[in-house]
Amino acid sequence: MTYAAPNSLQARDIASLIHPQTDLLRHREQGPEVIARGAGISVTDDAGHDFLDAAAGLWCASLGYANERLARVAYEQMRRLGYYHLYRGTTNETSVALAEKLLRIAPLPMSKVLFQCSGSEANDTAIKLVWYYHAAIGKPEKRKIIGRRMGYHGSTSAAISASGKPDMHADFGLPFPGFRHTEFPHYYRLHSEGETEEQFASRLAEALEALILAEGPETVGAFIAEPVMGAGGGIVPPRTYWEKMQAVLRRHAVLFIADEVICGFGRTGNMWGSETYDLAPDMITCAKALSAGMQPISAVLINERVYQAMLEESRKLGSFAHGFTYAGHPVTTAVALETLAIYDEMDMLGHVRRVGPYLQTLMSRLAAHPLVGDVRGVGLIAGLELMADKASRAPFPVEQKVGRIADQAARRRGLIVRVIGDRIALSPPLIITEAEIDDVLARLGQALDDTWAEVRRD
Ligand SMILES: Cc1ncc(COP(=O)(O)O)c(C=O)c1O
Repeated sequence: MTYAAPNSLQARDIASLIHPQTDLLRHREQGPEVIARGAGISVTDDAGHDFLDAAAGLWCASLGYANERLARVAYEQMRRLGYYHLYRGTTNETSVALAEKLLRIAPLPMSKVLFQCSGSEANDTAIKLVWYYHAAIGKPEKRKIIGRRMGYHGSTSAAISASGKPDMHADFGLPFPGFRHTEFPHYYRLHSEGETEEQFASRLAEALEALILAEGPETVGAFIAEPVMGAGGGIVPPRTYWEKMQAVLRRHAVLFIADEVICGFGRTGNMWGSETYDLAPDMITCAKALSAGMQPISAVLINERVYQAMLEESRKLGSFAHGFTYAGHPVTTAVALETLAIYDEMDMLGHVRRVGPYLQTLMSRLAAHPLVGDVRGVGLIAGLELMADKASRAPFPVEQKVGRIADQAARRRGLIVRVIGDRIALSPPLIITEAEIDDVLARLGQALDDTWAEVRRD
């Protein structure tokens, strides 16, 4: 099904964050798109237009948009215990069970789990724990946090400070002092002529080390990174990148927070991105597919070293003074437990390992398109780069907003993708089938043709 997408996406972006919108809804070109229902990997708006959602909402609707089993579990949990908190020595059965399950499936030995409601809160919690840890081991000045350009860790104040998104800092007075950013591993865009992936990875690791030395290693507390960058545009690390970056962190006793908010729970073809790239983080943050996006829940997994320091400091201070009203909410933890059970039963990892390479093969064919400069991906995450001149790797002028043109073209073809600048990222629900991948890629190809027809200079 095709229809004319509204042409003022920017106004709609702003509008869609602020409610109520009754007036705006009368002016459909300005107002938000109202998604009314979903089933499988598709959503339908209130005018009846169907879209294949190759973005899984915001990388989270891993089981699609309606799930009877999860609905039933939420309903039953609400009848049994619809709310309780984790304060003052209390917990609940589903939070205990979920923490145990997370520790069982963790990519390396982890010791404890802290619950929150969003990826942002998980990363804020991890950053606070870095500070607390270093205070506990007598190095309170080791507080600086290093993130990466284009990295995204959430919208709360500390998480966005760690993110390398200048547009999300501007006029918020952020990042906070003490947050630094190093280069992101986008080989295609950033390698110099003749530089191999390995050489590029060495250059980035050297840049990280130079930054740590310039700041003073005694002041650098942690490095935070996504195994594969999502909101940066589906950026897969170049060969040897992680091994070299982690060696630098170890040399300077800098803690490593792996932000698995997107990569966790199968997205890269393993349960964790940390397994795919052999990462050894001190803390792991996760959310999104943890509950198939059906409940707002996140978790921070911490290792024994961080836990022991935390315990020591809490004893000294009399309490561990940190928490959220809805952390470990029994309905969210019940739904997350059921989600993980469904993944096991459907052999979700096996499925991603089967359909992921199929997606990557079809994506790689798009490299021949005149607009497409680079295609990359792993598992069920893929990214491509729209370029003005492929041969010289020249991007389009920002004002041309080619990404937005492509976004609108995809919508007209009944397809939702994630557009970041001139990058298109795909992260479909993990349940996607090969036939659905065919459909997604056919529509994406058409959207690229439509975009090319609009931007080509003959
Ligand atoms: C890698 C990563 N970390 C953290 C977040 C923030 O998660 P939330 O929006 O649940 O706060 C996101 C959101 O997209 C993300 O992609």
